[in-house]
Amino acid sequence: MVAVKQEGWSSRTAFILAAVGAAVGLGNIWRFPTLAGENGGGAFVLIYIACVVLIGLPLVLSEVLVGRNGRTDAYHSAEKLATDSNVSKGWASFGGIGISAAFLILTFYSVVAGWVLYYVGVFIGDFFGNLTSGAPFAGALAGETDIPKRMTDLFANNTLLLSMHTIFMFLTIAIVARGVTDGIEKAATYLMPTFFVLLVCITIYGAFVGEFGKAIAFLFTPDFSKLSASVVNEALGQALFSMSVGSAALITYGAYVPNETKLAPTAGMIAFADTGVAILAGLMIFPIVFAVGLDAAAGPTLVFQSLPIAFQTMPAGSFVGLLFFVLIFFAALTSSISLLEAVVAWAIKKFQCSRAIAAWGVGGVIFLVGVACALSLNIWSEVRILGFWGIFADANIMDTIDGFVGKVLLPVAALITTIFIGWKADKKLVDDQTSLSGGKLAFYRFLTAWISPIAVSLILIFGLFPSLLA
Ligand code: PFF
Repeated sequence: MVAVKQEGWSSRTAFILAAVGAAVGLGNIWRFPTLAGENGGGAFVLIYIACVVLIGLPLVLSEVLVGRNGRTDAYHSAEKLATDSNVSKGWASFGGIGISAAFLILTFYSVVAGWVLYYVGVFIGDFFGNLTSGAPFAGALAGETDIPKRMTDLFANNTLLLSMHTIFMFLTIAIVARGVTDGIEKAATYLMPTFFVLLVCITIYGAFVGEFGKAIAFLFTPDFSKLSASVVNEALGQALFSMSVGSAALITYGAYVPNETKLAPTAGMIAFADTGVAILAGLMIFPIVFAVGLDAAAGPTLVFQSLPIAFQTMPAGSFVGLLFFVLIFFAALTSSISLLEAVVAWAIKKFQCSRAIAAWGVGGVIFLVGVACALSLNIWSEVRILGFWGIFADANIMDTIDGFVGKVLLPVAALITTIFIGWKADKKLVDDQTSLSGGKLAFYRFLTAWISPIAVSLILIFGLFPSLLA
């Protein structure tokens, strides 16, 4: 038996960087602009912000406080608060559901992050190709006529898909295996500031060479005719995914927070940074997309197909394209680290094993399920793991896992969390952890006990029965 040492962040800043790293990920850069693009821009952004403030933020605070109160993994932290509150351990199920969600998210997240890695490679080759041909600032992928094919070629090439997935998982595991301070915190301390610098630089680049005004109008002019119940539902689901709510990562990271750190302002910073990055990502991507007259509502191919086409004709496109994909890669890596850590922290406690064994063991299993996700892009595209269930009848393995997590696990975990914290958990324990008092505390309690349960129930119901919205 290995003694499990109590780990922790070395400072409040370290926690903020790691938690913002967990929150800011593919969801902000790949999904948010895509959703805003498909759902009419400004109106979606407004609803999104309302969801963040009224539902996401209180849930972030609730999750982090469960972790800090428990000082262990999500499952056991939830159990501790239930026990301390003298209520059934059933209320702690959100910890276990969250850990399962983290496990499943990482299986497909790593595959998508692998695509990003592939594009990093493509742009490195392109940049150095341009460099050696004496035109370092030429457009990206110069001379290539069929860029959209790059994505379809990648999806058809299993060796490439699996190699990228392998490299990405290897990196994630290697960092988590080094521990909270030496691995996770160190990675966040380097990657997140670099990420922010790149984000700001590419946005400024887009403002100068792209159609910035059009992007602003697109993202901020609300067109309420585009709003529907399903768009609102989509915005709320995205807000929760983007802030990493319901997936044990925040509870796990909360367990490492120093006692003197005030949790409410810290949760506010996480929510603010996550939303700010999502909006900035829109302001980074759309000026470039509009500059070459591409479709803002291209959907999931926006980043992997439209942008490489745009970079082809932009000044210094190969260089900026490279920076752009490095930026997404950093965002994806810090999120994957948090997903793996959520499961690893549990495994260390459950199996009383060393961190290294837990990280490589759990990471290895996630890697294998990820292989199935990667193969579902081609040779297993017809495999249906939940084919009997109407909403998943046409979904391949990767889409089924993504859908099951987003429609079932995350909302169920968030719902149990908010009801537990709002109604069942010991009020004094919760209130002391929040660092709130007076009107702010009352508002947090109101949102947690009333608004979140209703809103999250609606996501759950409409996600499972989409025909109700038709
Ligand atoms: N919030 C991340 C994103 O927006 O990409 C995804 C994520 C990370 C979800 C960690 C859940 C989690 F625990």
